[in-house]
Amino acid sequence: MSVSNSNPLYYCPLRDKFINLEEADLLVISKKAKGDLPRPGEAVAQANIVLRRAFDEEAEEVADMCRYFWDETEIFCFNQTFEIGECNNLLALAEGEIAGLLAWKKAEEDLIMVVLNVYPEFQGQGIGRMLVREAMELGRKQGCKLMKVATTNDDLPTLAVYQKMGFQLHKLVAGGVAKHHDGEMIGFSGIPIRDEVQLVRKL
Ligand SMILES: CC(C)(COP(=O)(O)OP(=O)(O)OC[C@H]1O[C@@H](n2cnc3c(N)ncnc32)[C@H](O)[C@@H]1OP(=O)(O)O)[C@@H](O)C(=O)NCCC(=O)NCCS
Repeated sequence: MSVSNSNPLYYCPLRDKFINLEEADLLVISKKAKGDLPRPGEAVAQANIVLRRAFDEEAEEVADMCRYFWDETEIFCFNQTFEIGECNNLLALAEGEIAGLLAWKKAEEDLIMVVLNVYPEFQGQGIGRMLVREAMELGRKQGCKLMKVATTNDDLPTLAVYQKMGFQLHKLVAGGVAKHHDGEMIGFSGIPIRDEVQLVRKL
């Protein structure tokens, strides 16, 4: 797991600007005020958001999305390397355009969520949650008992999202990410990326 710190990964509603990881910061506001903030674009009607498995001919678009967020198509987590092309790739399409991706793999009775990303222009509309819920359903149908995900110590927004969705902190691989990448990179809000944080949720 490494992350792109050059591409804009988030939207800043106060400046109406797409921002990269280092430019991002946390701000505590009331839940009510959050609803008043501007969105990056027109919200897409729920009926025009479709979730489906990526077709074989979309492999390059899936790889591009992975590279956009992670600078690579191989994701290292849970002590193994996942190649995006070998994962089950679930897409969210907003009015026909690729908006989000959830890549997962089954390992015995676990569903490992390898990648979850929503392009910044589509964030904050519930697409991330929809993808996670759909993956949970797919996992249950395949007999999985646990859903697992790994993130990094700096990624405070994502740690919030997962915990809101019922995941619990499970294991910390202290220094694991820095070791895998031969050094620390700069992550969310300038926090050094060092540790892999694993979370689990019962299915
Ligand atoms: C994390 C991510 C997948 C969420 O997707 P999304 O479609 O924006 O998420 P949703 O609209 O379904 O919102 C789910 C929760 O995410 C949180 N969230 C989404 N964007 C956020 C932001 N910019 N800042 C803070 N919280 C945010 C909200 O708390 C929301 O919870 P709520 O419904 O209680 O308000 C998406 O923001 C993303 O791809 N970020 C890129 C960076 C990244 O690090 N991803 C790492 C995954 S390991």
